[in-house]
Amino acid sequence: MSIDGLVVSRARAEEAPIIGNLMQFYIHDFSALWFDRAEAELEADGRFSDYPGLETYWSDPSRQPWLFRIDGRPVGFALVNDVAHAPTPVDRAVAEFFVVRKHRRRGVGLAAAHALFGSTWGVWEAAVVRRNAGALAFWRQAAESYPGVRDLVEEDRRDAQWDGAVLRFRVG
Ligand SMILES: CC(C)(COP(=O)(O)OP(=O)(O)OC[C@H]1O[C@@H](n2cnc3c(N)ncnc32)[C@H](O)[C@@H]1OP(=O)(O)O)[C@@H](O)C(=O)NCCC(=O)NCCS
Repeated sequence: MSIDGLVVSRARAEEAPIIGNLMQFYIHDFSALWFDRAEAELEADGRFSDYPGLETYWSDPSRQPWLFRIDGRPVGFALVNDVAHAPTPVDRAVAEFFVVRKHRRRGVGLAAAHALFGSTWGVWEAAVVRRNAGALAFWRQAAESYPGVRDLVEEDRRDAQWDGAVLRFRVG
């Protein structure tokens, strides 16, 4: 699906603060899933703590920051690395993925995910925390609807490393 005005591109180093800002909204969304955990409390200044290691997405070649814009305005981001949530190694893992609420449910996420898949051939992974049912439906749809996806497997994991679904598939 193509979305008018949507551009999905690698974020430049000077765009790191934009992702830092969007991260606040992302953590706010996740805080609703973590109502019974200590994580995702606001600091005294009314912000969530900065995302640890965000700057490594511009220095570590195995990591990639992506920005999604519509007509030049930021509407989402993705952080991609190669850290698997299951014992099977992967080439690319979607560490974080976000679309702002105003632009949800009109295909922005799908188009952005497909742009990511199109950037690198190999084994991809998307891991989804158990409570994030909407995201699980989204990633199933994103993988199943991309023409280059093969060998899609979905594992339900509950161990020290991960509690939720891990989707793995080959692109290319
Ligand atoms: C998950 C997220 C990225 C989806 O982005 P989006 O742009 O709204 O997704 P799309 O419009 O491309 O959705 C494509 C399809 O995915 C599925 N889907 C997306 N969001 C869904 C939801 N909340 N509940 C159920 N299905 C959903 C639907 O099948 C949808 O197609 P439809 O709208 O025709 O029914 C967005 O809701 C988000 O940023 N959520 C908060 C952060 C998050 O959970 N990120 C994922 C971490 S693993």
